[in-house]
Amino acid sequence: MSHLFSPLTIKDVTLRNRIGVSPMCQYSATDGVPNDWHLVHYGSRATGGAGLIIVEAAAVEPRGRISPEDLGMYSEEQIPAYQRLTAFMKENGAVPGIQLAHAGRKASTHSPFKQQGSEPAVATENGGWDVIGPSALPFAEGYKTPKEATIEEIKEIQEKFRQATIAAAKAGFEWLEFHAAHGYLAHSFYSPLSNKRTDEYGGSFENRIRFTLETAQIMREAWPDHLPFTVRISATDWTEGGWTIEESVELSKRLKALGVDLIDCSTGGNVSDAKIPVGAGYQNTFAERIRNEASIATAAVGLITQGMQADELIRNEKADLILIGREFLRDPYWPLRAATTVHKINDLAIPPQYARGW
Ligand code: FNR
Repeated sequence: MSHLFSPLTIKDVTLRNRIGVSPMCQYSATDGVPNDWHLVHYGSRATGGAGLIIVEAAAVEPRGRISPEDLGMYSEEQIPAYQRLTAFMKENGAVPGIQLAHAGRKASTHSPFKQQGSEPAVATENGGWDVIGPSALPFAEGYKTPKEATIEEIKEIQEKFRQATIAAAKAGFEWLEFHAAHGYLAHSFYSPLSNKRTDEYGGSFENRIRFTLETAQIMREAWPDHLPFTVRISATDWTEGGWTIEESVELSKRLKALGVDLIDCSTGGNVSDAKIPVGAGYQNTFAERIRNEASIATAAVGLITQGMQADELIRNEKADLILIGREFLRDPYWPLRAATTVHKINDLAIPPQYARGW
């Protein structure tokens, strides 16, 4: 029976355990280039025992950054800076992954700890930029109204995803995630709440998922066959008339057919007033349903904070991988602690420098 500290093999990559660092923006980059903060932050989670580290959303073009301090994967100078990170993570037993993203209509906003006042958007005169989306509908008050993307612009953005995918492989990443959740560009195309288009990218379910499917296919083709390619989706909009879990199951089947190896099951983020029943493991049922109904590996994420809680999900075949977010911000050594609580300390490869501490 698999458990939290069993290895997980997908394609040619084996994670030393089922614990991954969920992608979390650090809002600490200049011109999209990772720096010492990122090396120490991701490096400590590698020495802390995570099997997988998914580096935060890296934008495929400057316009696709959530904030001016986001990471990017669109310029040559970014690649060697990432190589430093991926080498260190690998040396310390973690598989280096990265999430490629385009923030769409939620771009050009202040990072949480740089915001002054209540206005989320960064004005163009203060270093912000014009944003793009499926329809000219802002996410919420204080956000920019996106330009409705033309077909040509859609293709250009997809080409940026292709180039960023190639760059991510060059940078030494071995696990790639396409960010199609949280109200960013792909999610805003597949949710009927943000997509009011009448062309082949809007309207019916088939048309709304077209952007995500096409982009995933382009990325899968550009990414080495032998490395895992995954997609994070928002499995529900948590709002009447919004995107549903049933649609997520169907989308996951289509993504699987394109060669996607795992669905990372998050929720929400596309409407500002959704009523989300946040609580322990509140998103886990989505990972379980997609795993069962679309027959694809899934990652569970969202308020999973305890070793036993994470272990139970793997043992009872509700998910294949556990992603931990905020608990990893509080404790880079979460896997070491979890290993003691689930009595698997001997299954954990503790860095020799730390072995005497355990
Ligand atoms: C996030 N989250 C997030 N999600 C994502 O897909 N890409 C990202 O870059 C980010 N950035 C980010 C930054 C910060 C500071 C937080 C707290 C969260 C969401 C994150 O990956 C995770 O899905 C949620 O935090 C829920 O998991 P936890 O924190 O309850 O374990």
